[in-house]
Amino acid sequence: MGFPRGRELILGIGAGIAAYKSCELLRRLLDNGFLVTVVPTPNSLNFVGSATWQALSHRPVYSQVWENIPDVPHIALGEKAHLILIAPATADLMARIAHGRADDLLTNTVLSSAAPILMIPAMHPKMWLNPATVENVKTLRDRGIFIMEPSIGRLTGSDVGVGRFPETQEIIDFIEESYGYRSDLLGKKVVITGGGTREPIDPVRYIGNRSSGKQGYALAYNAAMRGAEVILIQAATTTPAIEGIRTIEIESASNLFDAMKEHTEGADLVIMSAAVSDAKPSLVAKTKIKKGDLGSIALEENPDLIAEFTRMRREKGINQVIVGFAAETTSSYDDLITLGRQKLVRKDLDLIYVNSVEDGAIFAEENTEGAIILRSGSVFKIENMSKYEMAEILINKALERIPNV
Ligand code: CTP
Repeated sequence: MGFPRGRELILGIGAGIAAYKSCELLRRLLDNGFLVTVVPTPNSLNFVGSATWQALSHRPVYSQVWENIPDVPHIALGEKAHLILIAPATADLMARIAHGRADDLLTNTVLSSAAPILMIPAMHPKMWLNPATVENVKTLRDRGIFIMEPSIGRLTGSDVGVGRFPETQEIIDFIEESYGYRSDLLGKKVVITGGGTREPIDPVRYIGNRSSGKQGYALAYNAAMRGAEVILIQAATTTPAIEGIRTIEIESASNLFDAMKEHTEGADLVIMSAAVSDAKPSLVAKTKIKKGDLGSIALEENPDLIAEFTRMRREKGINQVIVGFAAETTSSYDDLITLGRQKLVRKDLDLIYVNSVEDGAIFAEENTEGAIILRSGSVFKIENMSKYEMAEILINKALERIPNV
């Protein structure tokens, strides 16, 4: 899988004049799909104040461990981060980190986080070339911290030398090169449905199914990590919100249909992992049906939503990749593939994930197993793995069908 792609980034600011250049860097990081929390060292606030960082990042900004204590920020920030970028990294800040000091919020976060760390040094050449700094840089690199070479050029004073803060684009390139990180879904819109629909019988009862919404959630998470604009339409689930993703909660198949009509326009990829009820009560009783009257409930078929969308795609010539799911109850792998292939063709899908939910398997579990079937007929067996890992593979396969990715 390579480097786990991530969007939650901490931008640490050291007390150097190059801090003002990090304002531009912050804007470009946001443009690149990162969600950024700025953690300036207290001294750096002499160069750029907290108000500037809050305004640019749209998030609260703290620099001391003594602020916002109930949230335990010195641990919570590092746990949430996928990447810590320190720019500018001053000689003093690198020395403190090399020695494991934790005397402000940034150094506490660095010490407590398992996230990869990247440093962009900026200082006068005399400080950069000082044996103490050289030694600290070596120590940090030996511990796996990525330290970019500073640029050579005009410094703050009239002199010239090594120690300049690199151009913003060079820093962004460095982030991508260091990790093989690529926001390969940036600029793409992805709509994902998940969970199981509920068809009301009366104000109290409904027809439902066992889908938990975990797979849809994992797909949405993966797409968002890769920089996509994600809309997650969840039916009857309790999964928590994912920051940066628009989650729409719906109940019935007809709600789902309406939400999809509203949100799939312009989507590059639609993944239909929701378990849609095939039928609904013909009439929804306004008051609770008494038990004596429950002998039979007249049902009528729901439209096949995904088939409607592939039909519209065909009619309007829309360039959209549509992925379906199929939950079958068979213990034969060959039968599973046959059923999946039939559904893919019948619904005119680009790709289908087929899994066996025999005896209630997979629903609500953390793991999944089954097969991804492509329109070409190719089959990729999914051995028992987490729904997050499956999401990564499925989206990779779907991407092959999106132009310009
Ligand atoms: N689906 C849909 N609308 C429906 C039923 C299903 O869009 N009314 C979608 C599901 O979200 C899934 C795919 O179609 O992506 C396959 O669902 P499934 O219930 O397995 O297909 P059915 O056509 O209902 O076939 P079966 O007769 O096996 O129930």
